[in-house]
Amino acid sequence: MNYRHAFHAGNVGDVLKHVVLLELLHALHRKPSPVHLLDTHAGIGVYDLASDEAQRGGEYRFGIGAVLADPAAQRVLARYVAALRALNPDLAPGGAGLRRYPGSPWLLKQGLREQDRLTLCELHPQDAETLKANIGRDPRVAVHHRDGFAALKALLPPTPRRGLALIDPAYEAKDEFVVLTKAVLAGLQRWPVGQFAIWYPIKEQKTVDAWKTELARQAQTETIAVELTIRAAKNARQMNGSGLLLINPPWQIEQTLQPMLDFLKGRLVREPGGGARIQTLVKAA
Ligand SMILES: C[S@@+](CC[C@H](N)C(=O)[O-])C[C@H]1O[C@@H](n2cnc3c(N)ncnc32)[C@H](O)[C@@H]1O
Repeated sequence: MNYRHAFHAGNVGDVLKHVVLLELLHALHRKPSPVHLLDTHAGIGVYDLASDEAQRGGEYRFGIGAVLADPAAQRVLARYVAALRALNPDLAPGGAGLRRYPGSPWLLKQGLREQDRLTLCELHPQDAETLKANIGRDPRVAVHHRDGFAALKALLPPTPRRGLALIDPAYEAKDEFVVLTKAVLAGLQRWPVGQFAIWYPIKEQKTVDAWKTELARQAQTETIAVELTIRAAKNARQMNGSGLLLINPPWQIEQTLQPMLDFLKGRLVREPGGGARIQTLVKAA
């Protein structure tokens, strides 16, 4: 396990993932009934942007840095910017004052209501310890040092039954897409009413299209893909963008996400051929 998210925190992929995640959470919270949130690949929860790791590649500058540079971000991405401000009280329009970047566990935890539950899984031993320290003790939150793919079998369906599983692997292993697909389908079988949000890298568009089309076909339930590429996705050797596959998405989430995606496209696309889209893979029954 070589992957450490500290090198990538706040990058373009994180921005897309976290903007969408907060909207999914908001949609779940339209009803007062409790929800269970499962984050299978949690990371450490909070990232210091001044750390050696974050500074080394400076990926956050092309992600959250580029987004906040436009003061319109606080209007278009209101929930996301509010969360950033909760973690960075000195955050000013334009992005000054951004010191820490929230990971998915922090974002999910800050949105929890009394009746909700959050389960976090992280396999890296040191990161699991840091996650526990960063997220703190909270009776609504369980932190597990365990394999997130196995958790999709072992921990689903959750109590309460409504909720969301975020699956955000490191894609280090050659067979990660295969393992992921099996685990998601097993999880969906155990929890057919659950929402699943799966983050994936886009190197070559046609390869990733084939994967998600097949996963959606097997899932046999409403599935959409939300994607943002910073350049044409033709070179399999480099990261050209990322997406979130949403299985059982909230009703009409596309309408909420489209203006946000348009804004992100304007801020984050770096070369010709990049873009953003929402694609319906399986329509609602
Ligand atoms: C992309 S990062 C997660 C980032 C996090 N979800 C966020 O948005 O802030 C992937 C994490 O998965 C962890 N990991 C790798 N393999 C895992 C597995 N099989 N089960 C659980 N965690 C794993 C890595 O240590 C890494 O921290």
